[in-house]
Amino acid sequence: MSQNISNIGIETIDAQHLQLLEKAEAFMKAYTDNLDNDTVNSTLNFLESYVVEHFADEEALQVSSNYPKYNEHKIMHDSFITTDFAKLKEWINENGLTPDNMKYFTDILVKWVMDHIDGADLEFANYYNGISR
Ligand SMILES: [Fe+2]
Ligand SMILES: [Fe+2]
Repeated sequence: MSQNISNIGIETIDAQHLQLLEKAEAFMKAYTDNLDNDTVNSTLNFLESYVVEHFADEEALQVSSNYPKYNEHKIMHDSFITTDFAKLKEWINENGLTPDNMKYFTDILVKWVMDHIDGADLEFANYYNGISR
């Protein structure tokens, strides 16, 4: 799935987006490699901290370039972490780490990230590249 990712035209951010999807793949792989639940959970926590770190870096770039839609963009990031991601984690804890559940989780996560990159992140990149060149 990471090969289907769009480049938005900001090198550091594009590299992080790729990393993010690779970590989502690693989460799936941790299961298919028959690793124990603790390892799968730590892969999930690692993925979450990477998402948080990426959002913070992207927001810092928006602040430093006076992006007018920063607040709107930050709300999307925050609600993804506190609502979508948190609910998925809770759901997976309740329903267990089965292949179907992990596929469900990863598909939703990847879809959100891909849609966000193609929409809001691309819009920011167009603004950022327009003023910085
Ligand atoms: Fe973003
Ligand atoms: Fe992003």
